[in-house]
Amino acid sequence: MVMAIPLLLAQLLLAVALGAVQAAPGLHPVVLVPGYATNELDARLTELYQPSSPGCGARKGEGWFRLYLNYSALQDPANVPCFAEQMSSVYDPAADDYFNVAGVETRVPFFGSTQAFRYPDPDRKNFSYMSTFVEQLEKMGYRDGESMFGAPYDFRYAVAPVGRPSMVGDAFFRALKGLIERASGLNGGRPVVIATHSFGGLLAHQFLVRQPLAWRRRFVRRFVPIAAPWGGVVLGMQVLVSGNNMGLPFVDPRALLRQERSLQSNLWILPSPAAFGTATPLVTTKSRNYSAGDVGDYFIAIGFGETVGLYESRVLPLFGGELPHPGVPVTSVIGVGVGTTERIVYPGDDFDGTPSMVAGDGDGVVNLASAMVVETPWSRRGGDFRIVKVFNVSHNALLVDDPALEIIIREIQRAD
Ligand SMILES: *[C@@H]1O[C@H](CO)[C@@H](O)[C@H](O)[C@H]1NC(C)=O
Ligand SMILES: *[C@@H]1O[C@H](CO)[C@@H](O)[C@H](O)[C@H]1NC(C)=O
Ligand SMILES: *[C@@H]1O[C@H](CO)[C@@H](O)[C@H](O)[C@H]1NC(C)=O
Ligand SMILES: *[C@@H]1O[C@H](CO)[C@@H](O)[C@H](O)[C@H]1NC(C)=O
Repeated sequence: MVMAIPLLLAQLLLAVALGAVQAAPGLHPVVLVPGYATNELDARLTELYQPSSPGCGARKGEGWFRLYLNYSALQDPANVPCFAEQMSSVYDPAADDYFNVAGVETRVPFFGSTQAFRYPDPDRKNFSYMSTFVEQLEKMGYRDGESMFGAPYDFRYAVAPVGRPSMVGDAFFRALKGLIERASGLNGGRPVVIATHSFGGLLAHQFLVRQPLAWRRRFVRRFVPIAAPWGGVVLGMQVLVSGNNMGLPFVDPRALLRQERSLQSNLWILPSPAAFGTATPLVTTKSRNYSAGDVGDYFIAIGFGETVGLYESRVLPLFGGELPHPGVPVTSVIGVGVGTTERIVYPGDDFDGTPSMVAGDGDGVVNLASAMVVETPWSRRGGDFRIVKVFNVSHNALLVDDPALEIIIREIQRAD
């Protein structure tokens, strides 16, 4: 007994010491916001769900299941229409907001943890571009839930301009705010580094500019957006005509078109007049050129005219003009030197034929004009703002390739 107490004490002291090592004292905590369609999404089908075919209703009443991503389920073409139906959203004009399809409940699992997006499908670990990045942070001493946190979200939704309803997006912003405060609290009150990929950068930017400046200065040490499409992407125009298979080569993108047209987030990535001007043709048919200033006409031409009003009321006010400075130190990391579609040319008068793509500069997805649109307005304000160009590294490879990761890690460490 006499020996036991000091031993216990020693073990306790050792545990405390190890805990401190694990928490890597001195590191600024990192909060990661992933890109579009990168984190898991669960769904549950209730009695209200009216499947278009009996097969789609097979999971009705059976509780939560992983809707995104189940890679092997989508390899069976018969499952794709069910996926599309359950992933759709519906705009309700009376509420001026987007909702899930009736009878489809969804939730974002693992909020707070990088487990949410390390692998979009944990049963298919080689389909991932976030895991390498997370491992690099672990090598620096970051620990999930202690000094490194994940902010996954329902990527089908976004937020509306201040004052307009956006239930899902607003809930995400409240959760993100709480997470940042908790991350800081768990790390001696040190402010956090917010590192984002792609679409996650647009969300984090909107989040930041909606917080009081004093809060941002207190809680955010640095914002490190990677491959952020500030001014949208030209390819975003094509998604609304031929769909996007989210990198799953066995999925016919057209099978997801109707679903993707229903999502608020797909309007966010349309090319903005601020980045692409109103004179440069981005989509061309035999009879008409469409610039970033003609998105409304383009919607009508592709048979999507019902969305013109939504685009004008919920998207243009956010992205039509200069993006406000986030009010914290920023390092924007962008890929350049990779062929990126900057003009889509349809052979006929309509959008049925296979278009030819004219390539320009960018990261293969994000056009250089979009990545650079914040340079002038954010530099004008002075302070700590830099754009770091990584040559010949593509959109997702920025989080995988060693030279790119070295640069990103250096920018995150700059906070310490
Ligand atoms: C993924 O889909 C397959 C085929 O439909 C199914 O057998 C499996 O249980 C699903 N996995 C998860 C995690 O829901
Ligand atoms: C990924 O893993 C699956 C098995 O889970 C395997 O069949 C496939 O060949 C792998 N793909 C690559 C590119 O390694
Ligand atoms: C579209 O723009 C291109 C290049 O600016 C121009 O050559 C062409 O005549 C235009 N086409 C139409 C139909 O206006
Ligand atoms: C990028 O690739 C181009 C074409 O392959 C090459 O000419 C250029 O030197 C590369 N740039 C860098 C910095 O590696």
